[in-house]
Amino acid sequence: MASKLQLEGGIALVTGAAAGIGKETVLAFAEADVEGIVLADLNDASAVIEESKKFAKNENFRAIAVQLDVSDENAVRAMVDTAVNEFGRIDYCVHCAGMGNISGATTEHLKIDVFDKTVAVNIRGTMLVVSTVSKAMAAQEPRTCQNPSARNPTATRDLGRGSIVTIASVNAFVPAPGMMPYTSSKHAVIGITKTAALDNIKNHIRVNAVCPSWTDTPMMQASLQRVPQLGHIIQKLSPLGRAASPDEVADYIMFLCSPSATYINGSCLMIDAGLTLTAHGAASL
Ligand SMILES: NC(=O)c1ccc[n+]([C@@H]2O[C@H](COP(=O)([O-])OP(=O)(O)OC[C@H]3O[C@@H](n4cnc5c(N)ncnc54)[C@H](O)[C@@H]3O)[C@@H](O)[C@H]2O)c1
Repeated sequence: MASKLQLEGGIALVTGAAAGIGKETVLAFAEADVEGIVLADLNDASAVIEESKKFAKNENFRAIAVQLDVSDENAVRAMVDTAVNEFGRIDYCVHCAGMGNISGATTEHLKIDVFDKTVAVNIRGTMLVVSTVSKAMAAQEPRTCQNPSARNPTATRDLGRGSIVTIASVNAFVPAPGMMPYTSSKHAVIGITKTAALDNIKNHIRVNAVCPSWTDTPMMQASLQRVPQLGHIIQKLSPLGRAASPDEVADYIMFLCSPSATYINGSCLMIDAGLTLTAHGAASL
């Protein structure tokens, strides 16, 4: 097995940490040697804290949970204050909290309350987390990494003041029927990410999005309940014939937070096994 990327310390804040991609991201951070993690979620994330301790590499490893709704401005500010008060800084913020497509109604039948709820969690929540964390990161000292590679032993890499990763979706680029609230919210996540990346150049904070296709999490399991034929659709449309596992997405997130990604900013990286290349149906020919 190839060795995993190591972060050698630093403090991570993960939203949506109680389940799915967020939970897996917490475990990957622990394994990547971070010193502290704040697990933020609507639900209680204490079971994930216990699990993370099994993988933690850092001898000073510590994790705390914060329960909040990311669409609540005061709660997001309190979450960031808690992280800074407890750990002194935030080096990595991965914003995984989000909601899936809950109705499936096509455009002419779409209910405004479903749209508004999705906008509140997926757009307002992303804006609040990215903006508030940017402010906290901008006020902290930058870090450097000595000797990032044995190939260049005298090199130093500037890590800047932090790395923020948002979770968009392939739906940020391609629509799916009956998914206007989710699809438009994920387009907005890209807009937030790119603007924050641009605004944060002066602060030396990198902001990137990852764009997964189907990933086997509780969110995908809920979609399978609602749309029973989805399993067959995934098998047929995914070039690998399967959904991603959450750890495949978390590995990509670790790369974006690592000293290996210091030149990557404002990017929106697909994690789709090539799904979005195959719209013309060549994969099934
Ligand atoms: N699973 C997929 O197929 C898939 C594909 C592409 C993108 N995504 C995106 O990845 C992100 C994570 O998805 P997942 O599949 O891990 O979902 P999930 O439902 O499995 O987990 C999401 C977590 O976020 C929390 N959460 C939801 N709303 C919240 C709120 N308002 N405040 C705080 N916490 C909240 C939930 O409690 C849960 O613990 C989402 O933005 C989702 O849109 C998922």
